[in-house]
Amino acid sequence: MEVIIRETENDAAQLTADLIANALIEKPELVLGLATGRTMEGLYARLAQKHAESGLDFSKGTTFNLDEYIGLPPENPNSYRTYMNNHLFNKINIDLANTFLPNGTAPDLDKECAGYEAKIAEHGGIDLQLLGIGSTGHIGFNEPLSALGSRTRCKALTPGTIAQNSPLFDNPEDMPKRAITMGVGTILDSKRCIMLVTGAAKADIVAKAVEGPLTSMISASALQLHPRATVIVDEAAAAKLENRGYYDWIFQNEPEWAPYR
Ligand code: F6R
Repeated sequence: MEVIIRETENDAAQLTADLIANALIEKPELVLGLATGRTMEGLYARLAQKHAESGLDFSKGTTFNLDEYIGLPPENPNSYRTYMNNHLFNKINIDLANTFLPNGTAPDLDKECAGYEAKIAEHGGIDLQLLGIGSTGHIGFNEPLSALGSRTRCKALTPGTIAQNSPLFDNPEDMPKRAITMGVGTILDSKRCIMLVTGAAKADIVAKAVEGPLTSMISASALQLHPRATVIVDEAAAAKLENRGYYDWIFQNEPEWAPYR
């Protein structure tokens, strides 16, 4: 795992956007795993800007989102499909037919989950999986005690996650209490993971995920098992990291990071 600390939220989003853009330039048929949430909004705005200003080409790319609420049809304003269309897909040249999210209104949800896994496999797996972290330590909607080998499935959301996300609903009571999410094992199968974390409210949980023990109580700690995981944080989210001097040293000395210094 690498931890890269950037000064501001904007700088952290910019570095993440640059890494995604470079991956796409290197492999135009990139299979990109995507996350939703407030943290991703600035990042998606930057990717849209790269498309508009420098012609970053998404036309051959494929995307798989981590999760979707159970019971919300795609056209619901709070669905993650709507979020993705509004924040990214409608602003870039991706073929919408190549953008996948679980269907939270499928008649047979278990079949939907198995089908989602099969579709990822059909595409050769995920090349780069983008992640955020929730206040419960979840990645995707893998709430505490999610098995480290779990696959795409239905998951009940914790009261903490409901408190975090329900203010985004016109009527907070309307927020679904369950979601389909890729599993921790699904995420760990991706070839590269980048977790973007910003803001002081995430400082405690990101320190536990990065420097604490590997535990299913904090799904993001499973990234310690991944051969190529990069955690990008701003100064506010880095505040509780004990070994930041070491992380900065790696950033300054590892040749891979030279273009970004
Ligand atoms: C949603 C997802 C979640 C979010 C996390 C952080 O697709 O993957 O794990 O990344 O809940 O959300 P924000 O950025 O709103 O704090």
